[in-house]
Amino acid sequence: MKKVITSALIYANGPIHLGHLVEYIQTDIYARSCKLQKEDAIYICADDTHGTPIEIKAEKLNITPLALIQKFHEEHKKDFDKFYIGFDEFYSTNGENNRFIVELIYNEIKKNGYIYEKEIESTFCSHCNRFLPDRFIKGTCPFCGAVDQYGDTCEKCNATYKPQDLKDPYCIVCGEKPDLKKTKHHFFKLSAFSDRLSKFIKSSNFQSEIKNYLLNWIKDGLEDWDISRDSPYFGFKIPDSDQYFYVWFDAPIGYISSTKEFCDKNNLDWKSYWKTEDSSIYHFIGKDIIYFHFLFWPAVLMAANFSIPSHIQVHGFLTINGEKMSKSRGTFITANDFISRNGDPEYLRYYYATLLNKSSNDFSFNDDDFRTTINSNLIAKYGNLINRVASFLQKNFDGLSADSIDEEEYVKYSGLKLEFLQQIKDFEYRKAMEIFHRYTDLANKYFQDKQPWQLIKDDKTEAHIVLTTALTIIKDLTILISPVLPGYSKTISDQLGFSLDIDNIGKKLFKHKINESKIVFSKVDENFSLKKKSCLSSLNIVTGKIISVKPHEQADRLYVLEVDIGNETRHVVAGLRPFYTVEELINKNICLLANLKPATLKGEQSNGMILAATSSDKKVGVLTHNKAPGTPVRFENVEYPETFEQITIDVFKELEIFSASDYISCDDCILFAGNERVFADRNIKGIVS
Ligand code: MSP
Ligand code: ZN
Repeated sequence: MKKVITSALIYANGPIHLGHLVEYIQTDIYARSCKLQKEDAIYICADDTHGTPIEIKAEKLNITPLALIQKFHEEHKKDFDKFYIGFDEFYSTNGENNRFIVELIYNEIKKNGYIYEKEIESTFCSHCNRFLPDRFIKGTCPFCGAVDQYGDTCEKCNATYKPQDLKDPYCIVCGEKPDLKKTKHHFFKLSAFSDRLSKFIKSSNFQSEIKNYLLNWIKDGLEDWDISRDSPYFGFKIPDSDQYFYVWFDAPIGYISSTKEFCDKNNLDWKSYWKTEDSSIYHFIGKDIIYFHFLFWPAVLMAANFSIPSHIQVHGFLTINGEKMSKSRGTFITANDFISRNGDPEYLRYYYATLLNKSSNDFSFNDDDFRTTINSNLIAKYGNLINRVASFLQKNFDGLSADSIDEEEYVKYSGLKLEFLQQIKDFEYRKAMEIFHRYTDLANKYFQDKQPWQLIKDDKTEAHIVLTTALTIIKDLTILISPVLPGYSKTISDQLGFSLDIDNIGKKLFKHKINESKIVFSKVDENFSLKKKSCLSSLNIVTGKIISVKPHEQADRLYVLEVDIGNETRHVVAGLRPFYTVEELINKNICLLANLKPATLKGEQSNGMILAATSSDKKVGVLTHNKAPGTPVRFENVEYPETFEQITIDVFKELEIFSASDYISCDDCILFAGNERVFADRNIKGIVS
């Protein structure tokens, strides 16, 4: 029986963070455990590359969407490798195999009568002359009043609504108020699948809380699903139409096309995974994407006569020291942030394994908890046992084990393998790790009670048997923990001279020579912490007044300016010449990013950056205010330090700061100069840079 195991496809518009890693580590442990048990399993994933967030991010970075997704594809591959995420294929949803399977499925479900066209009213920006899908529209949440929320859900109160419900809606590209316009869309007849979906859910082994949730949804009646988006849209064209597939139509199909990519490379038939009774499909997802995976996706598969998932495992959300991940709060920890704080990727895997269970509850990465788990459980128990046994054997017996074992002791471990693997199979990793800890405790106690360092003085043979017993137990433990610690288990098994083969469990290591005994684990430092300054808090922005302007002699887009920022005058260079005359700038109140590392632009040193908003049609307006020079400009709810360090332009570029009709904001924090909001000159709406 073949098995396809998947993690949700990661969006190709940002780096991998510790929240994502919950899922990839959970899935990877599961996949490695299947492979350890010699199942015919493959682990499949891809980058999710279509849709509006990709387009918006590319626009902000001033690169094409294609360049953006290629950049992140490479980064993601590297980061996943560092955390031992062992995909058999990591594909991309803009690949030709995906286009092929998307069209295949679409044509099939259309042929089967599940696609129809219907006229709807959609938000349209007359200024940009485009429809505004999903995230191209922002406004005030109709429920809690939070400003700057996207058209689908409010990040403050989690309410979901239609873009039309937003208060003060605006187009995020130009800032204008959108209208409604009629357009004909393609719908998938989800409603026709209510009965089959409830049967699918009822007869499954899904988590009970998820089942209840889903059955309630279905009871309330399923609406047909709009799978098309108007042009312009970054995605695949719908055959015989000038519209595009909505990203959530082609993304899950990426599971199949990634399998096909793997099969093409390995001379296998993708249908033997996705169009057969003889294969099972296991999805791992976060609880934010349940609707797509339990309803839309199986219905599409049913409509196209493909295999449906055998299981969908849902995990909860990770918080950092109890706080939601957010850039403005400094709790957005990327995979690389973790490594740069000397975080060991395999320790993260181990720690997550001790937290994960079958439920979809949220859980927290906690600095102290992490340190304790690694230092007191992994290292003090398992690591120490290995060191003691291996070095003792090396020192006193030349690294060679005896030819008999303490049977009475070893029989206590006969249940270890099945107990451990059963818990992993049931997604109860925490329980599996408790079992691992219980048996390492037992082995440590055995070693401690037998005191081989004493025993060796009177009964060398007996001491040798104790070591041989302990070595044999270590082998079994190491093989079982290998899906959690793939790198360390390999190092340990190399040192001790056995292979990580499940069939070696229960075999006694007689007359076995170990290769060496070296300490493999190092402790997590006392000072280890994921606490990080918020990116916003590193920005020292101050108000300033422009007191002199002259054209740059070497560059026709640049001005050289003197800016009064209260206690000093700054010499800065700014690319404002295409947008402002000298007269317009003189005496203007601006905002200066004052702690940017000085840079030399065409021979003129610039000590800071004048902030400006740019609209989609490339109009520019500086950020302005009515305050005296030298007033601190701060994002609300952000804690700032007493003194600022210099920052590079990259720190600033990473932030997503938007200019709305009469305020500037990032995440959901508004920018203030003293007690008044900063705003963009000329009412420019767009991205601040
Ligand atoms: N691209 C979609 C999935 C398409 S699947 C056909 C997506 N991508 S994502 O990059 O936003 O998220 C990838 C996975 O990571 C999702 O399952 C999501 O739930 C999970 N997580 C993202 N942030 C998370 C936490 N803070 N904690 C745990 N999991 C999190 O959704
Ligand atoms: Zn617009």
